[in-house]
Amino acid sequence: MFLQLDDKGPRYLQVARALKQAILDGRCAPGSRLPATRTLARELEISRNTALAAYAVLTEEGLIDGRSGSGCYVAAFAAAPKRPPAASAQATARAPVLSRRGRRMQQVYDRAIPGRQHRGLRYNLQYGLPMTNPQLASAWRRALNQAAAHVQTDYPDPQGLPELRAQICEYLARRRGINAAPEDVLIVNGTQQAFSLAADVLLDAGDRMLLEDPHYQGARQVFQARGAAIRTCRVDADGLVASALPRDAQTRLAVVTPSHQFPTGAVLSLPRRMQLLDWAQHRRCWLIEDDYDGEFRYGTRPLAALKSLDRAGRVLYVGSFSKVIFPALRLGYMVLPPGLREAFVAAKWLTDRGSTAIEQAALARLIGSGAFERHLRRAANTLRARRSALLGALQRHAGGAVEVADSSAGMHILAWLRHMSHAQAQALVEMARARGVGIYLVAPYCHKPLKHPGLLLGYADLPPADLQAAVRILADCLPRVSQA
Ligand SMILES: Cc1ncc(COP(=O)(O)O)c(C=O)c1O
Repeated sequence: MFLQLDDKGPRYLQVARALKQAILDGRCAPGSRLPATRTLARELEISRNTALAAYAVLTEEGLIDGRSGSGCYVAAFAAAPKRPPAASAQATARAPVLSRRGRRMQQVYDRAIPGRQHRGLRYNLQYGLPMTNPQLASAWRRALNQAAAHVQTDYPDPQGLPELRAQICEYLARRRGINAAPEDVLIVNGTQQAFSLAADVLLDAGDRMLLEDPHYQGARQVFQARGAAIRTCRVDADGLVASALPRDAQTRLAVVTPSHQFPTGAVLSLPRRMQLLDWAQHRRCWLIEDDYDGEFRYGTRPLAALKSLDRAGRVLYVGSFSKVIFPALRLGYMVLPPGLREAFVAAKWLTDRGSTAIEQAALARLIGSGAFERHLRRAANTLRARRSALLGALQRHAGGAVEVADSSAGMHILAWLRHMSHAQAQALVEMARARGVGIYLVAPYCHKPLKHPGLLLGYADLPPADLQAAVRILADCLPRVSQA
């Protein structure tokens, strides 16, 4: 028998690994006798003790059976499936058989915009990059240390730590006008998990669901992967056009961003909020309110959430700490209508047995100590300054070429390029990138093709001077692509 040792670690383990491989790939048939340890030692030029130790490892794993006096035999159940011919083995390795849902997930992932592979840019205006905040970082470290010192090591409550849910309720009452009790709240691993749980609990493959157009890709990707039949409804300067919602009663679920439409920035007007709630109530459609950055408003008070107007219990409110703290935290929450609570807790429990307890406890401390809301006030001031630096620079250097969608909230702006073709806009993105500035087209967020190209520009991550420098480079590229 030919055994190839791999030279990694102790000799007896190398021998045991090589023998195990031979057994699993069928070279040592089930029930067959293995060489005596003396023979094996001679063939492999190892000591007999090493051979004995290797056989002992395999005996312990149940792969061989030592019958005293008559040698060692390969265990009967150690039979591996017959090896397929080499060519088909290769083909199988290339294309494993996935479930339908597995295939859809893979396709969605392959088509997704490459995430954070734009490192090396001098100025990256990518939407979603978090604001670096040293004060928050040290408050967070303190909270985390304290939480770690008192952590309960048992599995956490799958619904979320009661103290965090209680803090979230107080915060929502103060800042978002939502009246919720801790038992209405489910802690999730970010908005993304809230979408996944909603798809699990509320939709079967082929069921209809509705997105705004344009919309957040993270939502579309989840529902696409679940095989939902996705429809869209247009938005204008007042947000979702409620009169254009589908008239039939087939839509099971809709994802909306009323506080700050993503990505246009429009705020859903009160009459439309009432129309939307009425539409959902009459069709027994669930509304997921994605309140991703409603906290950051400049010049006006934050609007109360749609959930605060929901008398019929159709709104599943989703909040995330990704924008208000940082996305690496992967924590968010849902406020659920009473009838859905148990099903969502069950889905969360089945998925991961609950979110990580130390971070939840630290977050409860951060909110409870007042440090969180102090941070929100400081962050809003910083973001306001960055936003006005970006808008001012665009106005000064590129005023004739870009038109910024009216929005006084959030961490990004949408700038339309009214006089440019889509090809020219793509060339602009590439030229700016070659000069170290990351800018991004809005087209991937849209369902229907756009009349004009637009740019989605995130400003949270860059100080005012960098934003101004980036816009100067962008403005310098504009005439070059317009003439091309
Ligand atoms: C529209 C929208 N919703 C939600 C989120 C937050 O997602 P998560 O909580 O999964 O980080 C983002 C983040 O970029 C977003 O843009």
